[in-house]
Amino acid sequence: MVMKVSLRRNVRILLLGDRHVGKTSLILSLVSEEFPELVPSKAEEITIPPDVTPEMVPTHIVDYSEVDQTVDELTEEIQKAHVICLVYSVVDDASIDRLSSHWLPFLRNCLVDTCLPIVLVGNKVDLVDYSTVELLHVVIYDIPYIFHFPQSSAKTLKNISEMFYYAQKAVLHPMAPIYISDKQE
Ligand code: GTP
Repeated sequence: MVMKVSLRRNVRILLLGDRHVGKTSLILSLVSEEFPELVPSKAEEITIPPDVTPEMVPTHIVDYSEVDQTVDELTEEIQKAHVICLVYSVVDDASIDRLSSHWLPFLRNCLVDTCLPIVLVGNKVDLVDYSTVELLHVVIYDIPYIFHFPQSSAKTLKNISEMFYYAQKAVLHPMAPIYISDKQE
């Protein structure tokens, strides 16, 4: 198994997840420090320069859009990524179910011999006053490195820069995951 967690001079973060969970909004909220009322289907790739990242490494942030990208293009992006933020909406049960029914099996197939950190991000926490973290134990799938990040809101900017920093750290300073596949050698 190849570990994509060695010393790096840059970090490439790919946001994945169902439609409308807020991937593009999370990226644009980070960049503009305000919630965008109108969002394109896909944000342009952005590069955060090293001097404004806590770890002082250039960080590329890449959006995904089901309507703009083919499965082959998505697979190519997954293989270029150093870490994946797998986003769900805390008010959309279907987006939570699809973590285990679609996204994690899909990633597992794309990453057969590669160990890539995956950060689960629950977005739209501004719309609830309860935690949905306990729902997630059902989505832990047979994939090596999964982390769960405290929930975020692109709208209120809650945990936005922290989320991207957390993903960066998962690459630069690998932490103990909440689940380790039995299949690791
Ligand atoms: P696709 O482009 O279809 O893949 O969607 P996406 O995952 O990029 O979601 P997008 O950023 O387009 O947001 C979908 C909708 O959710 C928009 O109406 C956003 O304004 C809204 N939205 C995104 N993040 C939040 C959030 O944190 N809170 C609330 N209340 N709404 C949000």
